[in-house]
Amino acid sequence: MREKRTFRILFVDGPNLNVLGDREPSVYGRETPADIRGAVTEAARREGAKVAFFQSNHEGEIVERLQGAKRRFDGIVINPAAYTHTSVAVRDALIYAGLPSIEVHLTNPASREGFRKVSYVEDVVVGRICGVGGYGYTLALQALLHHLRREGARGRG
Ligand code: DQA
Repeated sequence: MREKRTFRILFVDGPNLNVLGDREPSVYGRETPADIRGAVTEAARREGAKVAFFQSNHEGEIVERLQGAKRRFDGIVINPAAYTHTSVAVRDALIYAGLPSIEVHLTNPASREGFRKVSYVEDVVVGRICGVGGYGYTLALQALLHHLRREGARGRG
């Protein structure tokens, strides 16, 4: 029987996601970062995966965390928040990390203001999950694990 690998997944949140629950609840809902992390941690426990969480309001800190993820993690779930629409630096750091990644958004940026329709990371991620609130993070974990297991199975022929 094939041994089951424990995949390590890093969750990275961009600016203003620390005040989730309190921030424009009519847009982003009442769920807090702690609620989302709790649900993800529980899902990871069921899946036998290891998860770590990072949030920053500072672009450079996000860049450094993504750089540091190389060789330490197997995949990344990222909600770059406003930096989605502006940051070449976050995009470049994600490429440097070189890990399969899923982009998550609580809302569906495509149904909002025009400037949110641009994503600087959409073409360097495996896929995107948008518009289902905090549940999107759990879905992203499952999608990434599915991807890693499938790739692993392919790699071993
Ligand atoms: C967001 C969407 C972005 O446009 C916005 O700037 C955010 C949150 C989302 O999760 O829906 O901060 O990434």
